[in-house]
Amino acid sequence: MDKFRIKGGKALRGTVAVSGAKNSALPVMAAALLTVEKVALHNIPKVRDLITMSKLLAFMDAKVTITEFPSSDYVIETPKLNHAEAPYELVKTMRASVLTLGPLMARVGIARVSLPGGCAIGARPVDLHLKALEQMGAEIGTSHGYIEARAPKGRLKGAHIVFEKITVTGTENILMAAVLADGETVLENAAREPEVTDLVAMLRKMGAQICGDGSSTLRVRGVEKLHGTEHTVIPDRIEAGTLLVAGAITGGDLTIKDCAPEHLGAVIAKLEQAGAPIEIVDKTTVRVRGAKKLVGADVTTEEYPGFATDMQAQYMALATQAEGTSVISERIFENRFLHASEMMRMGANISIEGHTATVRGPAALSGTVVQASDLRASAGLVLAGLVASGETMIERVYHIDRGYEGIVEKLRGVGAEIERVHTAVS
Ligand code: EPZ
Repeated sequence: MDKFRIKGGKALRGTVAVSGAKNSALPVMAAALLTVEKVALHNIPKVRDLITMSKLLAFMDAKVTITEFPSSDYVIETPKLNHAEAPYELVKTMRASVLTLGPLMARVGIARVSLPGGCAIGARPVDLHLKALEQMGAEIGTSHGYIEARAPKGRLKGAHIVFEKITVTGTENILMAAVLADGETVLENAAREPEVTDLVAMLRKMGAQICGDGSSTLRVRGVEKLHGTEHTVIPDRIEAGTLLVAGAITGGDLTIKDCAPEHLGAVIAKLEQAGAPIEIVDKTTVRVRGAKKLVGADVTTEEYPGFATDMQAQYMALATQAEGTSVISERIFENRFLHASEMMRMGANISIEGHTATVRGPAALSGTVVQASDLRASAGLVLAGLVASGETMIERVYHIDRGYEGIVEKLRGVGAEIERVHTAVS
């Protein structure tokens, strides 16, 4: 299992590019199942989750062609969909596999998808996805760990769905189910994340009739069939936010290109409040300069456009270096503070009570061996390692490889001392 070795204390300087958004690429790849025609996708990041998604689509008889250079372009074609199934072996490595449920129900009216189960950050049920599909006429059962769904007469029907809780992949799944359903589907309390809006843009290019994107009410008029298209996924706002924190925490001067500053509002506002000067250079570029002094600022994670839970661990790393108290409230997932105990082992002053972490800073972090517990926790530990004295060794970095393209190379390119250590035994 690979590890990262980081020697902290270097200010990051220079320009670094952001890759395509993993959480946009996942649903748009699943959406390719909705048509018999070719779908060409660009700016797909080279990360493990997308390889898993391509294996899953191939299992269902999609032909997936990947062009590695100069950027990751995928061509997906599914003239026949013979296996409407997401097997446990793939779902257990990536719970976003559940994103195939909606397209399968729309395209063939039948689906067998392994239940994703919990993960390090919480229980993460999919009850809201299933309830919405049931409202659309699906008959759903669970058996032997699998969701088994069937649309009577092979086609879902439009429905008025009010999500009890905002769910990102739930909104995406039901959007994809609704585009080929009979009649109109209204989704209320829908997620407004840019990744949802990106999916809507792609579905519309395929011939779907959707309005309300960017708002919490989406209206979908089902059509008979969708056609092929070409789509470029949006830049990864969480990668961009992570890099912004990297520049701010190391007291560097980092220009982050190929990003979408319009999606970074909450992060930029919070970093500025914490004392890091940020300049929106143009529509695709932001620049962060290290603060003379970082100051504590409270954060509550929320659905978009609020401060993303996927940026909480990274912000916690920054808070350890800020003067004063930062209260971090996690409102989306119940167990997303596993990185805190590792940061504490590095010398951070953090106390946790329920969904709230109180960070007192600045603390002099010192490098040690730490364990990554999930994708964003890994990113938080990398950031802590960048400012810690001595050597930080991060274990289980397979988590970070799921969602950050070339993180080691990108950080090295702007002056970080970080390397990947390959080890045969964990
Ligand atoms: C998406 O997960 C992202 N994943 C996550 O990215 C992200 O952390 C999360 O949204 C929140 O922004 C992808 O886009 C592939 P939710 P998702 O359904 O859709 C509860 C990363 O690091 N809920 O919006 O699974 C749920 O337990 C990650 O890239 C139900 O109760 O999250 C949570 O408390 C990890 N029942 C809340 O809603 C349901 O049926 C929001 O979860 C569905 C969700």
